[in-house]
Amino acid sequence: MAAVDVATQLETLLRLQHDLALEHDIDRVLNRIVETATAILDAERASLFIVDTQRNELWSRVLTEGTGPGVSEVREIRLPLDGRSLAAEVARGGEVLRIDAAYDDPRFDPSTDQRTGFRTRTILVAPIDSRDRRRLGVLQVMNKRDGLFGADDERFVRALAGSAGVALEYVQLSTELAAERLRVVKVAEEERHRLARDLHDGVAQTLANTAIGIEIASKRALGDVNAALAELAQLRERLLESQKGLRDILFALRPVQLEDAGLPAAVRALAERIDGTNGSVVAARRVDSACRLVPEVEAGAFRVIREAANNALKTGRAAHVNLDVYDEEGEVVAVVEDDGRGFDVAAVLGSYASRGSLGLLQMRESARLIGARLSIDSSPGQGTRIRLRIPART
Ligand SMILES: Nc1ncnc2c1ncn2[C@@H]1O[C@H](COP(=O)(O)OP(=O)(O)O)[C@@H](O)[C@H]1O
Ligand SMILES: [Mg+2]
Repeated sequence: MAAVDVATQLETLLRLQHDLALEHDIDRVLNRIVETATAILDAERASLFIVDTQRNELWSRVLTEGTGPGVSEVREIRLPLDGRSLAAEVARGGEVLRIDAAYDDPRFDPSTDQRTGFRTRTILVAPIDSRDRRRLGVLQVMNKRDGLFGADDERFVRALAGSAGVALEYVQLSTELAAERLRVVKVAEEERHRLARDLHDGVAQTLANTAIGIEIASKRALGDVNAALAELAQLRERLLESQKGLRDILFALRPVQLEDAGLPAAVRALAERIDGTNGSVVAARRVDSACRLVPEVEAGAFRVIREAANNALKTGRAAHVNLDVYDEEGEVVAVVEDDGRGFDVAAVLGSYASRGSLGLLQMRESARLIGARLSIDSSPGQGTRIRLRIPART
């Protein structure tokens, strides 16, 4: 078979780069790279392994049969990253590996051949790195149809690995972005859920009961005016209570102080509103930031502060909760400090998959979305301090 000439190699490589430029489907990326490798290197097979650092493994889903009459086969292989395989060795060492007689090489593991019936003769393995030199994968090409893999093949496989690196990096980025979008949606959904539940259990319930109460009082008024009046007075009390609940919900949705006078005013209003809950003393301690932030950033920061303060009251059962909002070195710093029960931060953050509530995650997410840094300091019996540092860009 005629060797593939350099112009064709270059053309194929450029076409591959073009095709994979904005491709976010990992399988399509893997297939295209493997296809290109077998075609250009005139090889029988190629596999691309992805490094899974979390599981300390290499995995691959592609295994092509080249151009033969057999259909190409797709399945998933997993190899330990610290195990004895050529792919793992290259993943660890980062050097291109060229082997002319696989069965004479002690590093070659023939068990895959035994399983698949394929017979490996020659091998070329190259690392695939991101631009910042993280190892993303390994490209392994087997059995050059005509003789041995040469220095030219090695050069080409390096170039191909470079393109593969860019493509895989893009896939990784878009996967992370998609996961982040999902988290944002989930957090917003949870918030709506909570508000809906509060409205349903509070205001909606009271309104329904009041309607019934008025009906009963009207009937009673015909026979016993005083009893009816007493009932109406009671209904009025309940309505006023429910109005307070509604105000709380409105405040939770968007405190007017925030828009009008910024974060310090909203935090002072919050302290006033929740002071005395469960017997806790809530105080605006050092609330003197003079810096106005972008409205969305103020809203995000306030969400974090409110959640932290509510936690201090609800689960912390703190006697004292102190709130600070001040300027420091080009940042607005917000602190919520309580002397309550405290908690094991790592344990709570690590158990969210099995928890119903997302409070702390919401805080982290809100902080990230507004470009702020959040620190959560707490341990059982030691109280809790939540600190938010918001860059004050103008
Ligand atoms: N200020 C705090 N004091 C004590 N425990 C806290 C505090 N903030 C959070 N926690 C602990 O972390 C858990 C998770 O908080 P969160 O995510 O807000 O969910 P929720 O408040 O609905 O339980 C709480 O159940 C509590 O055990
Ligand atoms: Mg909470």
